[in-house]
Amino acid sequence: MIVFKNIQEIQEYLKKLKKSKKLLGFVPTMGALHSGHISLIEQSKKENEVTICSIFVNPTQFNSEEDLKKYPRTIEKDIKKLIEAECDVLFYPDCNEMYPKEEINSAEDYGHITSRLEGKFRPGHFNGVINIVTKLFATINPDTAYFGQKDFQQCAVIKELIKRNGFNIKLNCCPTLREEDGLAMSSRNMRLSNEERKQASQIYVALQWIKLNFKAKTVAELKMEARKIIEEMPLLKTEYIEICNADTFEIMPRKIEGRRLVALAAVYCGNVRLIDNLVLG
Ligand code: PAF
Repeated sequence: MIVFKNIQEIQEYLKKLKKSKKLLGFVPTMGALHSGHISLIEQSKKENEVTICSIFVNPTQFNSEEDLKKYPRTIEKDIKKLIEAECDVLFYPDCNEMYPKEEINSAEDYGHITSRLEGKFRPGHFNGVINIVTKLFATINPDTAYFGQKDFQQCAVIKELIKRNGFNIKLNCCPTLREEDGLAMSSRNMRLSNEERKQASQIYVALQWIKLNFKAKTVAELKMEARKIIEEMPLLKTEYIEICNADTFEIMPRKIEGRRLVALAAVYCGNVRLIDNLVLG
């Protein structure tokens, strides 16, 4: 695996690669890689001749200094996993490379997609995601970019980002990988204590309950019961649980035939904030 740390060097490499017309897949990450990330690398390898992974803990998408400080950083293990997965290239820039001092980051507003749910509870988060992913896409310009559906709202933001910037990049949002007890794989799971880890799987239990009872109950009943299920666990505290239009993120007060809906939850497990979702029908 070739490792690049600066933009100019990876772009020189990519210039040569583009001449050979090889299909390029790109998996952007913040490191602390788990099987969910590796499944994205594997998907990219199936569909492309060259796969690039980036690892960059993007400070501008954290809305708390504490959260940024505690985000797991495991670069040696990550490199090992990427080599095992036969990833071709790692882009591992530092902060000065991605955020040169003279550059001003733009403020982006994608309407409901960036203002609701994660946008509301983590002000500035999507602005940071949009800024960094725009830079990464402009640097790498892949044929296809791979993201995990666990970050369901982020996938919608990236779809809009591609449209607004006119990038010729296909977006592949891949299914969430889960642990045996249903907990969605996430780098943040590494920060859970044993007891928190046990209780965290209740988030998926609640989402599944919504899916199973979707036809029989009202939206208000579904949300209330799901919140109760989550909070049966003493270490869990629900920040939000909502049923939304899966394309616009409009919160649905009631069910409307023919709309693609998704149940989304953000839950504190101790001090660790976890998100998950399930598409309903
Ligand atoms: O999903 C993530 O890991 C991050 O939000 C991303 C897309 C790599 C941007 O920093």
